[in-house]
Amino acid sequence: MSEAVPIGWGRRLLPRLDGAGREAEGLVHGDTLFGPTEQAHHGRPWVAANFVSSVDGRIAQNGSAAGLGSATDKALMRRIRFEADAVLHGAGTVRAERFTPAVPPLLSERRVREGRPPQPLGVLVAGNGGLPLQHPYFTAASPRSPRLIWTTDPSLGALARPGIIDVRIVDAPRVSLHGLLADLLARGVERVVCEGGPGLFTAMVRDGLIDEVFLTVAPRLLGDAPSLTLGALPGGCSLRPRSVYQRAGELFLRYTVDAGAG
Ligand SMILES: NC(=O)c1ccc[n+]([C@@H]2O[C@H](COP(=O)([O-])OP(=O)(O)OC[C@H]3O[C@@H](n4cnc5c(N)ncnc54)[C@H](OP(=O)(O)O)[C@@H]3O)[C@@H](O)[C@H]2O)c1
Repeated sequence: MSEAVPIGWGRRLLPRLDGAGREAEGLVHGDTLFGPTEQAHHGRPWVAANFVSSVDGRIAQNGSAAGLGSATDKALMRRIRFEADAVLHGAGTVRAERFTPAVPPLLSERRVREGRPPQPLGVLVAGNGGLPLQHPYFTAASPRSPRLIWTTDPSLGALARPGIIDVRIVDAPRVSLHGLLADLLARGVERVVCEGGPGLFTAMVRDGLIDEVFLTVAPRLLGDAPSLTLGALPGGCSLRPRSVYQRAGELFLRYTVDAGAG
């Protein structure tokens, strides 16, 4: 069956790893994941989501995604961040994981050589669930690695640091995701990668704000654990496979979200 043949994305677009699985000297130069078709549209940036899941669609084990993906998956995550202007997360992920939205120095230097800011803008959507204020997401922010927080919680104004952490407090029950993306475009952000979690991702899909999905499928079953989507998706959402790649048992899938979905 022709559908079974891997399409599009070949070996060249995967990060290059050395024998020990570490990311070797950068990535394949000249190759890009985002091109002329991945452009801002409808008054908002292009938005790709990136997740890793088990074969049974679970995205966390014991409350964390750490350990789910291989070194290749992590290198691909850094590669997508490298090409994006902003990296978007929901508050639940900051509560669950220790991470920053930054790329490592090698990729940061390459961004600068290309005339881009050293780091993608870290963007966080938060409600009133509280945030761990000593989290590296905030403490590692700097003028070279800034953050933007959109929240309904006025107390998060305490996180604001001029030129480092910009806090937008919204006087509404929920942050408007359309409004947030329009604001990002006005700040010059043309490509966003949404790294979840499922609560934010599902809301974005529901609002028709996801253009494509990168999904790494780890060769594991996890059983009772949170899945990629959380909450209702009336009518579902159709995805068109764009590329498939396999390495060491792990599948790297890329889907385009059908226009009009959401
Ligand atoms: N496998 C993977 O690739 C992957 C990736 C990311 C995360 N994860 C896992 O996913 C889990 C966390 O997922 P999650 O769904 O709980 O969290 P999430 O999607 O990161 O964040 C959801 C939270 O974001 C805030 N939020 C979202 N939309 C909002 C809006 N329109 N207005 C205001 N606030 C909004 C709310 O914060 P408040 O709660 O403050 O109201 C909401 O509870 C963790 O276990 C993490 O390990 C896995």
